[in-house]
Amino acid sequence: MTKKHISFSYSEYDNTEELDQNDKELLLAAGQASQNAYAPYSHFKVGAAVRLESGVVIIGSNVENAAFPSGICAERNALANASANNPGDKPVALAIMAATSSGLTEDTVSPCGNCRQVIAEEEMRNGNKIRLILGSSKKIRIIESAGDLLPLQFNRNDLGVILR
Ligand code: THU
Repeated sequence: MTKKHISFSYSEYDNTEELDQNDKELLLAAGQASQNAYAPYSHFKVGAAVRLESGVVIIGSNVENAAFPSGICAERNALANASANNPGDKPVALAIMAATSSGLTEDTVSPCGNCRQVIAEEEMRNGNKIRLILGSSKKIRIIESAGDLLPLQFNRNDLGVILR
């Protein structure tokens, strides 16, 4: 038996002033996108902003549904929007902000499992890492590769046998 260990590092910042201008703008866009959320059930409004290789920024917010599983998260909304409207322009960074009725969350919100899987597919499809910029009213976390949040991921390589 061999014990294996997986770890990753990320950066934490106290305020947006410490960020690059690009990251700051992307977080701001995510914060604004959270205001467009349709979240009458959870009242948890999430905004995502994707920066594409060309510099274009595409936003998304969560859109809930009375049939709960039919709702979509902000991250997947933004990525699907980017894929449909700016095909071939690779996502390079994704910022996420969330708000409740008391304003922006005090801690960062990380993408849910479904979104991690979708972000991982984007990384693989385009052959580049996607930086995650997670914002809140009190701290910011930057994770250089979204794939770090999904170790031992299931991806197209696992389908090798049937894709052949
Ligand atoms: N949600 C997102 O949009 N992104 C996340 O990263 C976490 C959760 C949404 C789904 C649902 O509409 C609401 O937040 C509460 O889970």
